[in-house]
Amino acid sequence: MRILIIGSGGREHAIGWKIAQDITKDNLFFLPGNAGTQKLGHNIAGDVMDFQHIKEVCLANQVDMIVVGPENPLCGGIYDSFKADADLQHVAVIGPSKKGAQLEGSKDFAKEFMQKYDIPTARYQTFTLNTLDAGKAFLKELTAPYVLKADGPAAGKGVVIVDSYDEASKELEDMLRGKFGASSSKVVIEEFLSGIECSVFVLTDGKSYKILPVAKDYKRIGEGDTGLNTGGMGAISPVPFADEVFMTKVKEQVVLPTLEGIQKENIEYRGFIFLGLIKVNNNPYVIEYNVRLGDPETEAIMLRIKSSLVSLLEGVSHQTLDQIVYEEEKHAAATVMLVSKGYPEAYEKGRVITEEAIASDDIVVFHAGTSMQEDKVVTNGGRVISVSAKGEDITDVLNKAYHATDKITFDGKFYRKDLGFDL
Ligand code: AMP
Ligand code: GLY
Repeated sequence: MRILIIGSGGREHAIGWKIAQDITKDNLFFLPGNAGTQKLGHNIAGDVMDFQHIKEVCLANQVDMIVVGPENPLCGGIYDSFKADADLQHVAVIGPSKKGAQLEGSKDFAKEFMQKYDIPTARYQTFTLNTLDAGKAFLKELTAPYVLKADGPAAGKGVVIVDSYDEASKELEDMLRGKFGASSSKVVIEEFLSGIECSVFVLTDGKSYKILPVAKDYKRIGEGDTGLNTGGMGAISPVPFADEVFMTKVKEQVVLPTLEGIQKENIEYRGFIFLGLIKVNNNPYVIEYNVRLGDPETEAIMLRIKSSLVSLLEGVSHQTLDQIVYEEEKHAAATVMLVSKGYPEAYEKGRVITEEAIASDDIVVFHAGTSMQEDKVVTNGGRVISVSAKGEDITDVLNKAYHATDKITFDGKFYRKDLGFDL
């Protein structure tokens, strides 16, 4: 089995780390990867959106399977491009078809899907510039705070939550007039839900499914969940409030109807579904779908999957996932993201990173934004390195992970010291 992982972040490093438990370094490739992934396999330069280049890389290296980390290539149709290519029929693609990727790529598509299949989510309506007045009238029906979402991808900035009707009305107009370009030519307005969020990951072959470990990520840059949104400052797993009763509801009210919808809509889907959930009065509501694993949740949950990920992915590609045994580790896991000073706004790159050896089997370090400059590892992104730990419970793993952050140094290193504060 020769596997190519597409992407360059901590998520891809963590997927690679888990896959490397089953296959040798010579059989594992990353495109483009980072300074951490090159210890597990071969990094191959390239753009994740250059499907022709990815094809050539697959053929040149006899790749049997690609695992697509980020959403952009999926929304751009990498699955369909491989399936339509006679030379690539033998290459399994882990990820949904372009149509399936719309669950993440279009908020309106996702909301319509949820409504059609009776999946609990906030009440909503979608508007365009032609229906601006109706949009303003709909806002009047709702109470503050107001949630407005650009339909298409907007680099994580497309969700706007404001407190007054006047702000919401102005924001709606700005968005429809092109604040996020074509991505906000449609805007979803929805009811605000108040509760606590978690991330549920489902692996599916389109017929059957496995629910992977549940995680909670911390998105804001500042302690106490303050300040700007980031890609994610850390994550913990399991999530104490996602108990058995709640997870049964998630399965019955969200996972099963989502799979039913995927089948009824004839969506080809062989990959991960990320349910961004909010728990309101003990009930799950879907805030968003993503069509990939979360980052940094993956850097925690990979430490909790006991089964072979390669076997699970083979089950996905052959549509025999129901025959693969899935087991989780009993222990907890957490990851703490070390970021560059200034992130998520402007920050510097190219700062030398030093990593002292960590003599503990309970700690795994994943690179998120790093590269090699001659023989030195340097910072190459806002999120730089995540330190993951496993242990008895959330307190134990956070203690271990925080302790290990001292072993990694670079100029401008910053991280949140309050993960788990709200649990
Ligand atoms: P994202 O789509 O990841 O940019 O996330 C938007 C964030 O906005 C979510 O993680 C929630 O915290 C929040 N959010 C989105 N929709 C709602 C809603 N209907 N009610 C309350 N909060 C929301
Ligand atoms: N951690 C949230 C995401 O990956 O979108």
